[in-house]
Amino acid sequence: MSLFAAVPAFSNIDKWVKKYEHVVPGQLASDETFWEGIRRGFRLKPDYINLENGYYCFLPQETLEHFISHIREVNYQGSYYMRTKRFDDKRAMAEKLATLAGCTKEELVITRNTTEALDIVIGGTHWQPGDEAVMAEQDYGAMLDMFKLAAKRHGIINKVISIPNHPSGDEEIVNLYAAAITSKTKLLMVCHIINITGQILPVKKICDMAHSKGVKVLVDGAHAFAHFTYSIPGLGCDYYGTSLHKWLSVPLGAGFLYVKKENIKDIWPLFGPGADKKEDDIYRLNHTGTHPVHTDLAITNAIDYYFKIGAERKEERLRYLQLYWSDKVRNLPGVVLNTPAEKERSCGIANVGIKGMKPADLAETLLKKYKIYTVAIDYANVHGCRITPNVYTTPGELDQLVKAIRELSGN
Ligand SMILES: Cc1ncc(COP(=O)(O)O)c(C=O)c1O
Repeated sequence: MSLFAAVPAFSNIDKWVKKYEHVVPGQLASDETFWEGIRRGFRLKPDYINLENGYYCFLPQETLEHFISHIREVNYQGSYYMRTKRFDDKRAMAEKLATLAGCTKEELVITRNTTEALDIVIGGTHWQPGDEAVMAEQDYGAMLDMFKLAAKRHGIINKVISIPNHPSGDEEIVNLYAAAITSKTKLLMVCHIINITGQILPVKKICDMAHSKGVKVLVDGAHAFAHFTYSIPGLGCDYYGTSLHKWLSVPLGAGFLYVKKENIKDIWPLFGPGADKKEDDIYRLNHTGTHPVHTDLAITNAIDYYFKIGAERKEERLRYLQLYWSDKVRNLPGVVLNTPAEKERSCGIANVGIKGMKPADLAETLLKKYKIYTVAIDYANVHGCRITPNVYTTPGELDQLVKAIRELSGN
């Protein structure tokens, strides 16, 4: 009898998780029977092993079914819904997110994604010619482009640092940011977790350092929210943006912007805010126009699903999966791990390269020869494939990756 013969196929995991409610996260991380049950709640393509959940963590069937009902209901109620219930429903979603993020409901609005959230802050800062901004070359291209636009438009100067893939400690990173700050620096942007390597940065320490020099901090949390646990106010940042279609598994096209209450008045809205909005009302930054509201309505279902698995349990499992494969190849000759080995500096995402092999060729070979889907990264100090498992990934699938890396590196 197979190990998983007793695991039922289902699209609602309530009963399954109930059986495991007393198991602590650290112990559950390697309980394959439990995770096989979670896996059965996803519709997985048999064509390849999907190790590219960094772009989009598609929905478990349970959330997908809720999402489809929201589409049906909005379509049924039509304009009536849009003119009456929509606003309250959306605010309820934002409030639930605020509770999860640990902030007040007056500090968080739903956006389409991280790009929109962060660009509202970058574009809405009251820039003067000669003002400076600090960022890293490992930051996401869309945000770096927005700073370039601000340089063109307002004459600001962008100082771009580079973050080592294997820092000696938090101080090395904090000092790199500190060294780029001058008396003209107005804003510092930092990734909570670098998307191309999976390195988690010491955001709290960076915020404390920046604030001691009078600099505001914008955090790019695209890959952090519902991946590992934290509270946004606990980071001490001024602004935070994330995408909910990543680790929270909300349907495509949802994110949020957090603005610490005292900073709300300092940002110019992207769209006309409406005459009724006060200067310190975060909703003045959130005039979205008409958009697919059913995406936002599924936020509550995605949060429910996340809590069923358990935040700490998910974090422990994702870290377990990453270390499961990366520890097996980290010290092999010819293999380059672009992600720190320390547990606290990474979670589910890591990046691996093979010496002498272009990342694009590695990604193509992984897909064609080994049926593993990843994404090639080839810029800054990162040359390799980003490997992103999700809660449905099995160690058996990662064994296939380890086998591929061993063969391709000649080990
Ligand atoms: C670090 C980082 N920031 C921002 C983004 C942009 O996210 P979105 O396309 O959802 O706006 C991404 C997307 O992968 C990212 O990895």
